[in-house]
Amino acid sequence: MVYLLGRKLIVVPGPSSRNLGFKVAEILGVNIVNLSIKFFPDGETYIKFEGEVEGETVVLIQSLNPPQDTHLLQLFLMADTAKDLGAKRVVAVVPYTAYARQDKRFLPGEAISINTIIKLIEASGVDRFVTFNIHEENILNRFRVKAESISAMRLLAEYFLKEGMANAFALAPDQGALRWAKEANEILKGGYGWLKKERDRITGEISVEEKTLDIKDRTVIIFDDIISTGGTVAAACKIAKSQGAKKVYAACVHPLLVGNAYERIMNSGCDGIIGTDTIPSRVSKVSVAPLIAEVLRDELSG
Ligand code: R5P
Repeated sequence: MVYLLGRKLIVVPGPSSRNLGFKVAEILGVNIVNLSIKFFPDGETYIKFEGEVEGETVVLIQSLNPPQDTHLLQLFLMADTAKDLGAKRVVAVVPYTAYARQDKRFLPGEAISINTIIKLIEASGVDRFVTFNIHEENILNRFRVKAESISAMRLLAEYFLKEGMANAFALAPDQGALRWAKEANEILKGGYGWLKKERDRITGEISVEEKTLDIKDRTVIIFDDIISTGGTVAAACKIAKSQGAKKVYAACVHPLLVGNAYERIMNSGCDGIIGTDTIPSRVSKVSVAPLIAEVLRDELSG
């Protein structure tokens, strides 16, 4: 690994995104400061910076995949400690932002969880926040510091293009994912469509309305931001297959793949699942490191 620029910017790979952090530093040619992390017998987290950050712009790379509360607390400790050690500026690259789906009060009395998370991130000293495909863009306006969400949908679509799937049909499994399918279609150019999904707010059960799509004998790629339990993609996949799609793939930015989600999707007739490394997983074949490096270049010149 070659570090060219040394003192201008320091990457600190967090425990949830170590490989991604190293990749970003390598692309940018900047130094890394490692963290020592351990857990005390009672479960409390201990962190220690193994290098100097005084006077530097420090980029923390820490995703908020499960265990999300532990990863969140580590992020707070990292940011607050960096500032306490004299960092000039702290940029938090949080590839997957947990709690973004609870961005409003769906039922009376509920916590608007993402608002609390934003307050805590800011209170811990973060000066700039960078994430990927945040569930709702309007969340970014709730930050007082600069906050941006980069989309990795084009990277996913390019992966399929390289695999020879130009002209595949981009399917959104619900209306919220339509923007992702449209974005993928700019690369694949095979047309796009969407399904209507309802989720029971109490039980979490989903139902997807049958809708006729122009997909007979075609390759269909389902694009979504998150695959969690796999229910959404599995339902969309079944519909696509029942309408005569030749091959059906699932693509997502954040492969949470909770429990048996992978098997659930594959059992629905899916021919393959591709995700990015915003969350390390068995399907994380597309790296977002080049996009992170690109967005951080202004920190190098500033
Ligand atoms: C919600 O609208 C998201 O975009 C995803 O569709 C959802 O989080 C997927 O969840 P699951 O995999 O549990 O169906």
